Amino acid sequence: MGVQISPSILSADYARLADEAAAVAGVADWLHVDVMDYHFVPNLTIGLPVVEALHKHAALPLDCHLMIDEPDRWAPEYAEAGARNVTIHAEAAHAPVRTLRAIRAVGSRAGLAFNPGTAVEPYADLLPEIDMLLLMTVEPGFGGQHFLDIVLPKLRRARSLVADRGAEIWLQVDGGVHEGTIERCAEAGADVFVAGSAVYDSDDPAAAVQALRAQAEDATAHAAWNARRRLG
Ligand code: DX5
Ligand code: ZN
Repeated sequence: MGVQISPSILSADYARLADEAAAVAGVADWLHVDVMDYHFVPNLTIGLPVVEALHKHAALPLDCHLMIDEPDRWAPEYAEAGARNVTIHAEAAHAPVRTLRAIRAVGSRAGLAFNPGTAVEPYADLLPEIDMLLLMTVEPGFGGQHFLDIVLPKLRRARSLVADRGAEIWLQVDGGVHEGTIERCAEAGADVFVAGSAVYDSDDPAAAVQALRAQAEDATAHAAWNARRRLG
């Protein structure tokens, strides 16, 4: 897979979600759905009923990012509700292997997310259980925050870890990703880009997705990690 763009509906108009999903349907790869529970993060968004409704009405596959305290209990239900990818947080999961397997057992892709201060290396042995690593580039909870450059070294290490294991694991970045930061992410090793405010605060969300993709593809084409991958 090459560059993938996953617009986050956190910055969309929640009263017009089907329209907001349709606005990026032809140009994006995923629709990123941020589930927050007021406990794991200090914000509250949406849950299973909205994911079920979006699954019926949105053309794009749903990329559910669970920022909740009990992912072990709830994550499989999001897969059953139709999410094509379900990402749980390393900081919240008590039984990540069991939960990642339960997500895959329903037929969904399984993601593991890391806050800016959480290291990926302790989870290296779990890579066979994971389809996507999500590195948060802000502290999770809100859209429109400033991108944290301090995460870029971790992103490079995560890309090396995945390459060393020969694994087909996508690397997603989420938070503060926009036209001023997406190239740095691509250059450091990301291949799936979540963008909330950069897409939905734009007058033309589809054009914003296309512009981000063009920037990310250009940076990826010049990235050292990608050259190594091409050489095998
Ligand atoms: C924040 C969420 C993000 C959020 C990103 O915790 O996980 O998905 O929508 O918003 P922007 O792209 O505006 O930083
Ligand atoms: Zn998110």
